[in-house]
Order: sequence, then structure tokens, then C-alpha cells
Amino acid sequence: MEYIQVLSLSFSLLVLLFLFLVMLFVHEKNIKTKRKLPPGETGLPWIGETMDFYRSQRKNQLFEDFLQPRIARYGNIFKTNLMGAPTVVVSGAEANRFLLSNEFKLVVSSWPASSVQLMGKESIMEKQGDRHRCLRNIIGATFGHVGLEGLVPRICDLVKSQLSTTWDGNDKIINFHRFTKILTFSIMFECFLGFKVEEGLYAVFERVLEGCFAPALDIPGTKFSRAKKARKEIEVMMLKKVRETKKEIEERVEVESSDKGTLFSRLMDTYMRGEITEDEVVDNMVVLVFGAHDTTSFAIAITFKMLALHPKWYSLVLQEHEEVRSKKQPEETLTMEDIKKMKYSWQVARESMRLFPPIFGSFRKAITDIEYEGYTIPKGWKVLWTTYATHYNPEYFQDPLTFDPSRFEDGVQPYAFLPFGGGPRVCAGYQLAKLNIIILLHYVLTGYDWSLVHPDEPVTNDPLPMPSLGMPIRVTPKSS
Ligand code: HEM
Repeated sequence: MEYIQVLSLSFSLLVLLFLFLVMLFVHEKNIKTKRKLPPGETGLPWIGETMDFYRSQRKNQLFEDFLQPRIARYGNIFKTNLMGAPTVVVSGAEANRFLLSNEFKLVVSSWPASSVQLMGKESIMEKQGDRHRCLRNIIGATFGHVGLEGLVPRICDLVKSQLSTTWDGNDKIINFHRFTKILTFSIMFECFLGFKVEEGLYAVFERVLEGCFAPALDIPGTKFSRAKKARKEIEVMMLKKVRETKKEIEERVEVESSDKGTLFSRLMDTYMRGEITEDEVVDNMVVLVFGAHDTTSFAIAITFKMLALHPKWYSLVLQEHEEVRSKKQPEETLTMEDIKKMKYSWQVARESMRLFPPIFGSFRKAITDIEYEGYTIPKGWKVLWTTYATHYNPEYFQDPLTFDPSRFEDGVQPYAFLPFGGGPRVCAGYQLAKLNIIILLHYVLTGYDWSLVHPDEPVTNDPLPMPSLGMPIRVTPKSS
């Protein structure tokens, strides 16, 4: 009798469990079928809206021609199809916060195949979780306040020497954007990696950059194939230095003291402790040179341009630099403390990057189905956040198209001003970018009279923003 009772109880439990599982399955299926995709057009198969996107980006009108009309039609979240990938574009500070702070949990960064191959799959931009944290710590130690402090005099000396070799002489015309590109490249290479910049090296790096956003077609004659060859040349050079330094350390030869505390020495120390691989050393040297290069050089160029176009701000900035200089001996360089005092310079630089962000935004990939604002972003889809969608929005910046650096006097709403991104992948080098901008402002404004050759020169994009004519300026050293 007891046996029959136990048997029927077990059977009832089994039936209940079965019913529960069926209900769960039906519920899950309902959720899945009920999921609501964001509004928007996905266009033709594969091509989608790619052509519209690229056309507007090339004209530096991504906001005006692509984003704004779709935001007006669909709102702050819409779907599209770019380069064969279904993509959701999100706008607004809240969406930026949601997306960027959920890196690794809901999304991971997603770069074009060409960039990944050229920067290297061991670079920080491809790492997640612990590996990302490990590299971030090394990079953070180098480019954080403390790491940079000791390098300020070296950067100042390099800036002064490049200015005097290329700018001295009367009424010279300088291609300013090219100058800033070579300068930021040399700073990264000489001050942080400890390499001497040999003749021709810069051209090799430029070739890699040209392929970074090109289609990843490794066919002779394509931009990508040329870039791959150039990347190989750089890799060989860097590997040689890594292996020589390793040998020196193993043989206990003291490594040149000027290299201590640089990015290279930090990467090598971590490598020698077995915490990162040889490929990680090389790929991260490469990615940092590139990450620092076109972004900072454009930010410098656009800051100078905005100053030239706004004389009131020019005199405020000049005044703060003159004040610092008046308290120094002629050969004395700037310090971190001086840079902290340059309040107007940083306001002008930030306002310039608000109006002309060096990076328009970046892509993420959903690693799970994401529910946001009543819509589902399906697993595997790309998600794009952009700087423009908040930088040009009157909700965050009153009268957004007016150049007004004083808007940075008071704090800005979190995740509304994003030239450097946000969340765990916030730019690892923004403090260095700030140093580079302010140091160059100091030596140019206090040492030279200069003016724009083409004050109306437009900004173009290929694929990153740049002054279309290279921003030529006329310079003459100040007489005293
Ligand atoms: C004005 C100059 C710069 C701008 C506007 C800029 C912008 C950005 C942005 C928007 C991101 C985030 C990308 C994303 O969310 O996917 C980023 C990441 C990064 N930046 Fe910068 N950057 C600048 C200068 C630099 C410099 C000087 C360095 C190197 C010293 C650097 C190294 C990096 C690295 C390594 C990352 C990736 C961080 C990670 O994945 O954890 N950047 N930058």
C-alpha cells in the first residue's frame, strides 16, 4: 500500500515538473517571438545603408545627413544595416551610459576586420576581462598623472626642438596638420617607446593607417595589402628591440636609465615576469602609436583653428601661457602643475573636440539579447554610439553649434561629452592628449605669431577627420 502511495506521489511530481517545463518553454518562446526590434530601415541585403553612411561620413556630415534624419524619424534608438551587419544606433547620454558601462557584460567592442589584423589581435582593443585589466594597468601606469609627470620635460624639449628646426625663419608657410602628426608620432616613439625615429619610419606607419578602415582584401595593390606589408616591417623592427632588450635583461646588463618608467620598460618588465606574451608587447606598442596619432594630431589642429577664429579666446589663452612663462627661466620647461593651471586652454580644447570630435563614436557587439527602452537588441547585432548625438543636442549643450568654451566652466552631464569615450574602455591616453595639446599651445603661442592661410578650410573625413588642405599657417618667430 505504502509503495503504491510513494509511486503515485512520484508520478504526480513528474507530471507537475513536466507541466512546469512545458510552461517555461512556451513562456520563453513567447518572449522570443514577442521581442520588438527597434524601428528603422535595413535596406538592400548586405549593402543595407552602408553607402549612405560612408557618403555622409566622408563629407564630415555624418550627423546632418545620416543620424539626424533618422533620429527625427525613429527616435533615440533605430536599426540599420552597415557593412553586412544588422546594427542598432543609440543616442543620448542615458543610452551612452547604458551601452558603454555594460562593456563585457552585455556588449564587447567590435572593430573592422582590417583594423584588428593591422593593430594585432593581442592588442588591448581585442582583450576582455582579466587580460584587458592586466594591459589597462600597464598602460594606465604610464599614461596616468603620476606616470606622465616625469615625462613632461622630455615632451617639452622635443616640441621645442621640432619647432625650431621646422618653424624658424621669417614668414614661413607650415602645413600644420602634417606637423602635428609628425610631432605626436615622435613623442610616442621617442618619449614612450624609447625608439629613435629613423628617416622613412613615419611613412611606413602612415601606410598602415591607410589600410585600417579599408576592406580587408589581401590582394596585391590594395590599400590593405600595402598596409599589411608595412605592419610586418614595423613588427620586425619592434621584435628586434624586444629580443635585444630581453637578452640584455637576462645577461643583467643595465638597461639605459632614460628608458625607465616608459611604456616600453613597463611592457618588458611584465613580459619578463611571464604575465604577458611577446606578441602582446608588440601589438600593444603598435596600437598605442596608432591610438595616439590621428586623434591627437586632429585635436591639436582643430584647437588651434578655433583659437585663430575666436580672438577673444586667443587672448585669454595667450595670457595664461604668458603668466606661466613670466615666472620661468628661459630654458626651464613646463611642469604638470603649470599644465593644471591652463584652465582656458583646456576649455578651448574641449569645446573644439565637442564640435569636431576626432572619433565619431564606435561599434559594440551584443553578446546577449539586450532589452533597452522597450526594444530588443538581438545577440550578435552591432550597436553604434556616437559623439555627435549628444555633442550637438541642445538638451545637453545649449545653442550647440556655437563655439563657447565657457560652457565647460560648470560640470557637464555624465556621458554627454564623450570625445574620449566612457566606461571600462574610456580612452587610455586622454591625459597624454591633454598634455600634448597644452604643451604645443604654450610654445607656439609664446614663441610665434601665426595665422591661418585658409580660415574657411573645411574638415573632411578619410576615414578620420582632418583639415581638407592640411591647415597651412603662416608663421614668424616673435621678436623677443
Ligand atoms: C585627442 C586625442 C584622443 C581621442 C579623441 C581619443 C579617443 C578615444 C576614444 C573615443 C576611445 C574609446 C573607443 C571605444 O569606446 O571603442 C579611445 C580608446 C583608447 N585610446 Fe584614445 N583618444 C585620444 C588619444 C589617445 C592617446 C594619446 C592614446 C595613447 C597614449 C590613446 C590610447 C587609447 C587606447 C589604448 C584606447 C583603448 C582602451 C581600451 O580598449 O581599454 N588615445 N580613445
